[in-house]
Amino acid sequence: MNRIDVTELVDLENATQSKTVFWDQTIYEQELEQIFGRCWLFLTHESLIPKTGDFVTAKMAEDLVIVARQKDDSVKAFINSCTHRGNQVCHADSGNARSFVCNYHGWVFGTDGSLVDVPLEERCYHNNLDKSEHGLTQVRVEIYRGFVFGCFDDDTPSLEEYLGDFAWYLDTFMVGAGGGVELLGPPLKSILDCNWKVPVENFIGDAYHVGWTHAAGLNVLGGELAGLAGNQADMPYDDLGLQFTTRHGHGFGVIHDAGPSIHIKRAAYDKFLQDTGPTVTENLGPERGQLYHGHWNTSIFPNTSFLYGTNTFKTWHPIGPHQIEVWTWTLVHKDMDDDTKRTMQREAIRSFGTAGTLESDDGENMMTCTHSNRGQMARKGRMNSSMGLNYEGPHPNYPGIVGSSFIGETSYRGFYRFWAEIMAAESWSDIKKNDKHWDDIWANKDFWKDRGKS
Ligand code: FES
Ligand SMILES: [Fe+2]
Repeated sequence: MNRIDVTELVDLENATQSKTVFWDQTIYEQELEQIFGRCWLFLTHESLIPKTGDFVTAKMAEDLVIVARQKDDSVKAFINSCTHRGNQVCHADSGNARSFVCNYHGWVFGTDGSLVDVPLEERCYHNNLDKSEHGLTQVRVEIYRGFVFGCFDDDTPSLEEYLGDFAWYLDTFMVGAGGGVELLGPPLKSILDCNWKVPVENFIGDAYHVGWTHAAGLNVLGGELAGLAGNQADMPYDDLGLQFTTRHGHGFGVIHDAGPSIHIKRAAYDKFLQDTGPTVTENLGPERGQLYHGHWNTSIFPNTSFLYGTNTFKTWHPIGPHQIEVWTWTLVHKDMDDDTKRTMQREAIRSFGTAGTLESDDGENMMTCTHSNRGQMARKGRMNSSMGLNYEGPHPNYPGIVGSSFIGETSYRGFYRFWAEIMAAESWSDIKKNDKHWDDIWANKDFWKDRGKS
């Protein structure tokens, strides 16, 4: 494959990107190989496949995948495409199975993906078919705190290494209070006519749009975030929260103390956070103790996003450059009682389910951000992500690069920095060579020192 030169597409110094990144088919094909073919991609959560034989079907970009719990309690994943003539082997979204039987000619695969039975094997194949060579294509699987990820590339570093410093942040709610979290499914699924990167960048760092795009919705919802509606309030944005980016393009913004503020029925959730918060501080220290009570807008590179506090959890599966399938679960703390979990699920769906109040506001922008760039002239333009440039840097108390306000584009810049890096890199060993220096390039290294944090 002849790779396109991405240096023109992302200008790191001036924080701009070419508008073609949302439209061009060649760029998309390169993303499939360079990004989706080599990064860890979220598949499911262990809580959704607790017993031997439990399975879900998932997607890794455009590849269909089966994820199944094994007899030894491990989790395996394999491509959902028959090794005979390529038919889809499993059509169910989830279930419990002893085997997967292809409905074209009846080849039977075990829940570990191996080919175990072939109709008319002796009479028609004359025993010349080596079944051990015809198992379903295996996908590498690793699990972090119950979150199951798959990867196509054996050279990709371990999932823990790939998450890197971002795991420090994830641990805040994944293990901080001791009880862990889980996802409630099955995922809601919908189609949106937009490029996959538009929602990823929206979730990774776009607190800027909240007061404007969601002005009407926020007024209806009330609560702490209503103050952002219409950008009318005179607020000290730099004191309300922070924004973060870490190695490999992961990032998030946090509004301190805003936790479940989008939920209307939230008394039980609020109480749970109040009761467990001191344990998080005790286990992980004051920074993460504070983050535990915040509202986060987050993306894990490349295409998984969540809002901690609202607790919607999403994967944006690309279908070509101009369309995605959105899968939405609800994130809950395992130790909560079932009533509280169900209330949280209803509240998360009300705002960010397929027809959620806030999801609908965002969907329209995501589609037009993509389709307005189809024109020859429009595509020659640039997009800007310079908000808060230089108001960011390494921080003594937090890993990665920290931006001074939750309304900023620090995490956009981190996302596109890594996007450009991996789109150009020959291999993961090239990427590793930049590990030591990846945070040197943020221009204002003394930003937090100058603010008295050192
Ligand atoms: S395509 Fe699956 S058995 Fe023939
Ligand atoms: Fe939004």
